[in-house]
Amino acid sequence: MTTKITWLGHSSFQMETSGKSILIDPFFEGNPVAQVSADDVNADVIIVTHGHGDHVGDTVSIASRTGALVISNFEIITWLQNQGIENAHPMHIGGSHEFDFGTVKLTIAHHGSSLPDGSNGGNPTGVIIKTTDGNVYFAGDTGLFSDMNLIAEESLAAAIIPVGDNFTMGPDDSIKATLFLQPRTVIPCHYNTWPLIEQDMDDWSRRIVAQTSAQPAVLQIGECFEL
Ligand code: NI
Ligand code: MN
Repeated sequence: MTTKITWLGHSSFQMETSGKSILIDPFFEGNPVAQVSADDVNADVIIVTHGHGDHVGDTVSIASRTGALVISNFEIITWLQNQGIENAHPMHIGGSHEFDFGTVKLTIAHHGSSLPDGSNGGNPTGVIIKTTDGNVYFAGDTGLFSDMNLIAEESLAAAIIPVGDNFTMGPDDSIKATLFLQPRTVIPCHYNTWPLIEQDMDDWSRRIVAQTSAQPAVLQIGECFEL
């Protein structure tokens, strides 16, 4: 079976694998580029990389409506449980767990993670999802770090990395990240949501092709990539 990864805008993705719909960082309300609504999207699982509002996003409303299993770090899961979310699985950096759709491992990310109400969201994370079709790394919000070399040992079919600059890596460091991660395909995110993080993705694609051995996959919002 094929694993499909659909970009929903900003850092929001839907991964369809093993018959499950997994939302990563679902942010639709207040997202100027969102094309789907929190009331319509379907989810069996929601994974939240860190506490910022543009990543926790609509997790509470979608999880309440769908009963989706929410996976995140311990602090964010505790915060969600205090808001009535019962189907939740806490993890933390370095830990792996096998779920029915694949194995999830949380990785480091260099960023913040305070929650929208100011609560402590623990440390920010990236996530590796190991599917029967290949391993996918969602970097979350992060700056460049050389331990991406270790993540490369997971043999990544795809790496999804922020490129917007200002809050995360920008294009220059995303090239270095791709060289560290050595994914088969690199998919950019966290750009063009607001003017502050606007980037020229034609130029970015050319640089990925010229300077790395990865295939760039610049998705339109709503477009999917198949592993
Ligand atoms: Ni953030
Ligand atoms: Mn962000």
